[in-house]
Amino acid sequence: MTIKLPPNIATPAYVLDEAALKANMATAARIKRETGCKILLATKAFSLPAAFPLMRETLDGTTASGEYEARMGHEEFGKEVHVYSPAYFPGEVERLTKIAKHIYFNSADQIHSYLPLVKKAGGTKIGLRINPGYSQATLGGPLYDPCAPYSRFGATPDSLDDVPWNDVSILHAHALCEARHSGSVGLIEHVAKNFAPYIRKVEAVNFGGGHFINKPGYDVGALIAAIKAFRAEFGVEVILEPGAGLVVNTGYLVASVIGMHRNDKTIAILDASASTHMPDVLEVPYTPEIIGATIVEAGDAPKPNSYILDGKTCMTGDIIGEYEFSKPLAVGDRVIFTDMMQYSFVKNNTFNGVPLPDLAVLSENGDYRVLKSFGYEDFRVRLG
Ligand SMILES: Cc1ncc(COP(=O)(O)O)c(C=O)c1O
Repeated sequence: MTIKLPPNIATPAYVLDEAALKANMATAARIKRETGCKILLATKAFSLPAAFPLMRETLDGTTASGEYEARMGHEEFGKEVHVYSPAYFPGEVERLTKIAKHIYFNSADQIHSYLPLVKKAGGTKIGLRINPGYSQATLGGPLYDPCAPYSRFGATPDSLDDVPWNDVSILHAHALCEARHSGSVGLIEHVAKNFAPYIRKVEAVNFGGGHFINKPGYDVGALIAAIKAFRAEFGVEVILEPGAGLVVNTGYLVASVIGMHRNDKTIAILDASASTHMPDVLEVPYTPEIIGATIVEAGDAPKPNSYILDGKTCMTGDIIGEYEFSKPLAVGDRVIFTDMMQYSFVKNNTFNGVPLPDLAVLSENGDYRVLKSFGYEDFRVRLG
C-alpha cells in the first residue's frame, strides 16, 4: 500500500483519506439503495465535521451517545439526530428534545418516567433499546459485548410487557462489534425469531452498530438479503448506525521517530503514543498495521530491522508493537499507521502533557490540509 502524502508534513497527525472515505460511502449507498434502510453515522467512532459534507450525501444523519454528540450532529451534520444513553443526566432529556427527534431509552421504567416530558416537548420519537441476548465475540470478548452478563445496556426480555408500546416507535438492538456479515445476519434473524410480537408494535427497528460493512471479507450481499427478508416479514423501516464500519481503513496516524533506545532489543520512540493517541491499541488490545512494515509476532525468529515502537509517556505499557522494516529506522523517519480513523482521535488525551496530533485531510487530488493543530493551551485548558 502506498499513499501520496507530502514529504514534510508535521507529525504526529491523524490524516483522513478522502478517496477511501468516498469508497466506503459507496458501500453504505448500495445497502440503502437495495434495502431502503436508513444508515446513520455513530459519531462516537468518528466525529470529524470536515468530513460530514461528503458523508451527508449518503447517510441519513447521526446517532449520539448523549447531549454533546447530539448537539454536534445537529449543528454540523444536520439531517436526523438519534441519541441513546443507558442513563441521562438531570435536564439532559429535556435539552435533547430540542435537537434530537429520536431518543432511545434503556428500560420500561425509564420510558415511564420521561414520557410526560417527551410528550410535552412534542415531535420526538421514542425508541427502546432491548438487550437481545445475542453475543457475537468478534472483538475484545466481554469488554465489547453489549449482551455480556450484567450488561447495563437494554431492556431484558422479561421486562418488555411493562413497556408503554403505544408511545414507542423504534425497537433498538445493538449487539455487535466489528462483526462480519454472519454477525449482522445472525442478529437480524435472532431479533426476528425472538421479538416478533414487539416488532409488530413499532414502525422501525434499529440494528445498532458493529456492522463492519467495509471490512474486506464482509459479504454486503448477505446483509442486504437479511434486511430485505426482515422488512418483507414485518413491514417496518430498518435503521443501521455503524461507526467503525463506515470509516474502517479511511485514514492514518502519521508519526516520526524521535529517539532510539537499546535494551536487548531496539526500541524506537515515536512522537505518537498508544496511551495518548491510540488508546484502543491497549484497550482492545491489538497491533495496528504500518505501511511498509510487518508485525513481528511473539516467538518469531529475530529479524535484522526489527524495532519495538513505543510512545514517550511514563507508562511502561505504552508499547504499540514490534515491527520488521525493510531498512534500519533512524530518528526523523516517518511511520504511518493505517486504519486510524475509528475510535482514535475521539478518544485521545494529553497524559504526560503529550501534545495532540494534528487533524488533517488528504483530499482526492492529493492536497494536504491541516484542519487543526493543538498546542499547550489545549493541554492547559482542561486542568482548570
Ligand atoms: C448503541 C451503539 N450504536 C452504534 C455503535 C457504533 O458501533 P461501531 O462503531 O462498532 O459500528 C455503538 C458502539 O459502541 C453503540 O454502542
